[in-house]
Amino acid sequence: MKSTTMCVLVVMLVGSIMGKLSPPERSYKILMLLPVSSRSHRNVFTPLAEALADRGHKIVMLTNQPKSSKHPNIEDIPHDLPYYREENINFFDNRKNHSRALLMLETVLPAVARELYKVPVVKDLYKRRKEFDVMVIDQLFNEVAYPFLHEVPFITVSTSGMEPRMSSVLGNVPNPAYVPHFLQDHPRPLSIWHRFYNTFSHIRHALYWRKWTILPLIQKAISAQFPELPLLLDLERNVSLSLLNSHFSINAPLPLLPSQVEVGAMHCRPANPLPQELESWITGSRSGVIYFSLGSFVRSSSMPVQYRDLFIQAFRRLPQRVIWKYEGELEDVPDNVMISKWLPQQDILAHNNVKVFFTHGGLLSMQEAIYHATPLLALPIHSDQPKNSMFIKNSGLGDFLIWEELTTDMIVDALTKILNEPKYKENVLRMSVPLRDQPVSPTELAVFWTEYVIRHKGAPQLRSPAAQLSWVEFLMLDVIFLLHLAVIVLLFTLRRIFRVITAKILGSSGKMKEKND
Ligand SMILES: *[C@@H]1O[C@H](CO)[C@@H](O)[C@H](O)[C@H]1NC(C)=O
Ligand SMILES: *[C@@H]1O[C@H](CO)[C@@H](O)[C@H](O)[C@H]1NC(C)=O
Repeated sequence: MKSTTMCVLVVMLVGSIMGKLSPPERSYKILMLLPVSSRSHRNVFTPLAEALADRGHKIVMLTNQPKSSKHPNIEDIPHDLPYYREENINFFDNRKNHSRALLMLETVLPAVARELYKVPVVKDLYKRRKEFDVMVIDQLFNEVAYPFLHEVPFITVSTSGMEPRMSSVLGNVPNPAYVPHFLQDHPRPLSIWHRFYNTFSHIRHALYWRKWTILPLIQKAISAQFPELPLLLDLERNVSLSLLNSHFSINAPLPLLPSQVEVGAMHCRPANPLPQELESWITGSRSGVIYFSLGSFVRSSSMPVQYRDLFIQAFRRLPQRVIWKYEGELEDVPDNVMISKWLPQQDILAHNNVKVFFTHGGLLSMQEAIYHATPLLALPIHSDQPKNSMFIKNSGLGDFLIWEELTTDMIVDALTKILNEPKYKENVLRMSVPLRDQPVSPTELAVFWTEYVIRHKGAPQLRSPAAQLSWVEFLMLDVIFLLHLAVIVLLFTLRRIFRVITAKILGSSGKMKEKND
């Protein structure tokens, strides 16, 4: 009797801890649109797709990525256009040359816009788009898929966390006094120059993307094929909800609208047991283990040779063992270094003999390190990685290095410092615990809100009135103008009155003088 009561209690507790969602009213059809995406963007979508599929919904994914889930309820539709292929982009070349990276987008995105709707499977999917209950679109780089959103409720996923441009569309214009630009951050607190520069970057990027260059190019290609369609920016304004790959415990807390839901670190999960060989290799290292990976987007084999040699020399000097994710053959590998092209990253990071994660500073890698409480040394390559690296340093989770300044000593010193000073581990733990302390898991939260948007037919109750305002109204320029006008009129009137009075007084005192004479 007692034990059954206990059991019921435990079940109830577990149920409430896991925040079990009530069963869905029916099976929904959901279209996920990520025709221009990297593997890391895809990795943000997969946990959400699988969780929705587990609840009996049918998921279709339009993508440029290889299949990532074997779930029977998830159907992949790859468009197979030869653009934006990770294997064709050399990020080491693009790294310092921003104009080159932008130039790539300026040619790739319009090309996708021209050709996407000619691909037979995409054409067919477009024709039957109204069958879907909701669209979930990758916010970054996927304006080419906006025609799908016409007259269907849709949700955007910001894989890089809160993105100022999209946030402004929803009616929440971020304040550049403290919200970083999506690719860059500066040491905190921001100096006046950094705030000036940050404001300038916010405005320049929004204009470059929406008004001057990228959107007009895509719009031109889309209008040629869909002359009847509303403008892409008008379609975008109809967004119901934005899921953000961020969480206030691992980013700066920011003011958000009810239509902006933080679901950061959906892909993070408790560790699974490691393969036997790896487990004993890690446990067998008396001074701990360093895990080195430059992520899924950048292949180490495209790394310039001089850096490769630097790493080998540096690792040779360390008393720790090093696990290096490297695709390709390497000669002259020291005994304390293990090379592999695929590694169970989260299970490695969760091992308590793994002391430092030497990383490119990708957002998902950083989230995994925080979730599993492993200090970081970042070596950022491109896009938001420099910003994440600055965050790692600013919040005391580790440090970062810069490719141009790299020497063997620097690598050894930085790794040794992070290994030996306990504050890094303490700081990362201090962030890890609140990240796991949530009423429901981020994936469940994302599932809830996705179904909510369907249940409420686009959930118009979430729309901020700010989204309807023009810039003049939003910044209250008209009101400020009126205020100025009122002050000017008041001053002018007061001056007239003052003049009349002084003239009277002076006039009468003048007359008195005359009389006295
Ligand atoms: C950056 O890339 C552009 C386009 O490929 C090229 O014209 C320019 O010379 C490059 N700049 C530098 C500094 O390498
Ligand atoms: C805007 O969204 C609502 C539902 O979210 C939809 O019914 C309507 O057709 C959409 N309008 C346009 C122009 O796409």
